[in-house]
Amino acid sequence: MSPRPWRDAWWDALYGPNGFYRRAEGPAGHFTTSAHGGLGAVLAEVVASLADQAGVCRVVDLACGRGELLTHLHDKRPDLEFVGVDIVERPVDLPRRVEWLRSPGGGELPDDLREIDALVLAHEWLDVVPCTIAEVDHDGVLRGVLVNAAGAESLGDEVSTADRDWADTWWPTAKPGNRVEVGLSRDIAFADLLSRSRTGVTIAVDYGHTKATRPTQGTLTAYREGTLTDAIPDGQRDLTAHVATDSLGADEVVTQRELFHRLGLTAATPEHAGATADPLGYVHALGRASTIAALTDPHGLGGFHWAMTRHTRGHA
Ligand SMILES: C[S@@+](CC[C@H](N)C(=O)[O-])C[C@H]1O[C@@H](n2cnc3c(N)ncnc32)[C@H](O)[C@@H]1O
Repeated sequence: MSPRPWRDAWWDALYGPNGFYRRAEGPAGHFTTSAHGGLGAVLAEVVASLADQAGVCRVVDLACGRGELLTHLHDKRPDLEFVGVDIVERPVDLPRRVEWLRSPGGGELPDDLREIDALVLAHEWLDVVPCTIAEVDHDGVLRGVLVNAAGAESLGDEVSTADRDWADTWWPTAKPGNRVEVGLSRDIAFADLLSRSRTGVTIAVDYGHTKATRPTQGTLTAYREGTLTDAIPDGQRDLTAHVATDSLGADEVVTQRELFHRLGLTAATPEHAGATADPLGYVHALGRASTIAALTDPHGLGGFHWAMTRHTRGHA
């Protein structure tokens, strides 16, 4: 494959006919997110509580993997309705009451996803929406980075005017060698998602940065079978880059840690006296405290950004 813009190679590597996300084992076969296992059970509580606050009884999980979080939600809150959206066929073991929509992938959404009255969660979606990778050349010009099939990079043409404008506004740099992950494709994807809602709340959750914390060398990286690996667009690995969450135009962006604390979820260990009075309850409370500690760790999952926008348009 001759060198081409990262954004195109990235899209094919994840969503093309042999794309990484079409593999049978799904994302959970390669990395763990807050949606999985014991973490997912607590995340489901948070999502259900935000749906209650927003006054909606439906949860749409966009980019839901194989429906891991929806399965937790279904167990905890059978009173709610659920829709899972991802690029593959409906997983066979998904609870029957969960509806399923198939999506094209990346920044493209299914036509049927419209007129939404729900809490829409996009958990670790935007980081896998391919974006322009750019680098400042020796003359201070921002040029697109090209990549070949083996992952070798070279500099291409100057970026488009739209990408340049985005970078000037959100990620200005003229220092030769600095990289910019142009968030325009993520902003457009998020705006498209917002435009499909009538009532409720839309939430994108990702590793993120803001103008004050942009990385100078970018964050594009890859995961395969639980290991951080080289970014090669070969369909054998996840390709991900952190999200510029301040440019999304959400009503509010808070860290996961702040949000959990706001909802009263803290990692306080239970009173030791409970160990004799109610040993099983004590063990359960200890486990829960350690799960919440992991979800709110400021240097780990607690640093995730929650970009939230409420919808009050009402029915047309
Ligand atoms: C990093 S995984 C996150 C999975 C799950 N939300 C979690 O947190 O465990 C990204 C998922 O986004 C899905 N995805 C990417 N673009 C999508 C789109 N436009 N519509 C639906 N799913 C999409 C991928 O297929 C993949 O399952």
